Amino acid sequence: MKALGYARSIFNTKWMTRDYLTNGWLFFIREEALTIFILSVIMWVIDTVTGRDTCCKLLHLVLIVLIRRVMVGGICNSTKRLDGQTVVITGCNVGIGKETARALSQRGAKIIMACRNTKTAEKTALEISNVTGRELVVMKLDLASLSSIRAFAADLKKKESKIHILINNAGVMMCPFMKTEDGFEMQMGTNHLGHFLLTNLLLPLLSHGQPARIINVSSLASARGVIPFDDMNYEKGYNKVQAYGNSKLANVLFTRQLAKRLKGTSIQVFALHPGAVQSNLGRHFMGMWSASKLVTLFIKTTAEGAQTTIFCALEACQQEPHYFSDCAPGYVVSAAQDDEVAEKLWKVSEKMVGL
Ligand SMILES: NC(=O)c1ccc[n+]([C@@H]2O[C@H](COP(=O)([O-])OP(=O)(O)OC[C@H]3O[C@@H](n4cnc5c(N)ncnc54)[C@H](OP(=O)(O)O)[C@@H]3O)[C@@H](O)[C@H]2O)c1
Repeated sequence: MKALGYARSIFNTKWMTRDYLTNGWLFFIREEALTIFILSVIMWVIDTVTGRDTCCKLLHLVLIVLIRRVMVGGICNSTKRLDGQTVVITGCNVGIGKETARALSQRGAKIIMACRNTKTAEKTALEISNVTGRELVVMKLDLASLSSIRAFAADLKKKESKIHILINNAGVMMCPFMKTEDGFEMQMGTNHLGHFLLTNLLLPLLSHGQPARIINVSSLASARGVIPFDDMNYEKGYNKVQAYGNSKLANVLFTRQLAKRLKGTSIQVFALHPGAVQSNLGRHFMGMWSASKLVTLFIKTTAEGAQTTIFCALEACQQEPHYFSDCAPGYVVSAAQDDEVAEKLWKVSEKMVGL
């Protein structure tokens, strides 16, 4: 049953709208030119060695383009601007977060970069502002430390009277058993509990009566997750793959419960799966390979991986099950729609982070 749910979340037919097939080709060509070139050369050599005719070779080229287009998934073509709006993004010195920061800065937003590595974040801020001419402010945030989260929120409240979009993007995947400063298992502590506390502390800045959005970057891995209520800190045993899925399921359940609590306000809430994206996320199990350009031959680039986050920041309308994938409402397994578990997780999380 779980495998079926998993498959349905990959083959979400909502991708295949007319808009998906007709728009975004310019972005696609810009991002994919090198990948398509490399794959085409490889295919051409194979076809030549195996004696295929020119017609067959050309057909293979078309197929490569179409397969890559499907793999790239949804593309956000929104022309909406965010002038005068403030966006907070966690973990945006690299990866999907960096591309999200770039895209929203290009649309006029002021970006608050909430990062633990302020050195690389400053470099990223400079790189983006040199192109967009917009303000990007780097602020220290370590999601594996409750005191750092509280200090960040207090500092932000001094600097800003309101924020319009909060993007909980930072994440750690499949690390060996490690604990946060406060004794939580690292993946649950960073991916869920850290963002849970941060969001709650920033709610007053988001509650200004104008439209605001909270976006939680989850993962397809949520489909295999369960919330380990009897052992939230994995003292009885630890499986790094399962623990990642559990933390990402927690992102979706948190989103669900948050949407319920914020019903009737002007804040919309979203969870999303960005796709399989080339980034540093695989550092704990793939080493440098995960960040290598070679991987991009088979998965999304970071700019492609940021598309659904950008879509949720600009265009998406909050709707059940509060989960998006490839710039369209996504499919979630029943465990991610369980209101009782979502409520219980909220209460347990409140207790753990001391809210
Ligand atoms: N890449 C994929 O295929 C994929 C698939 C599904 C979901 N996702 C989700 O997408 C999000 C972004 O991942 P990515 O692929 O862009 O990975 P990434 O390149 O590894 O970026 C992760 C970001 O999170 C930050 N981070 C990690 N621990 C932190 C902490 N304790 N405090 C503050 N920041 C912290 C990292 O900071 P440092 O640079 O300091 O380490 C980095 O900026 C994650 O939530 C991930 O679960 C990714």
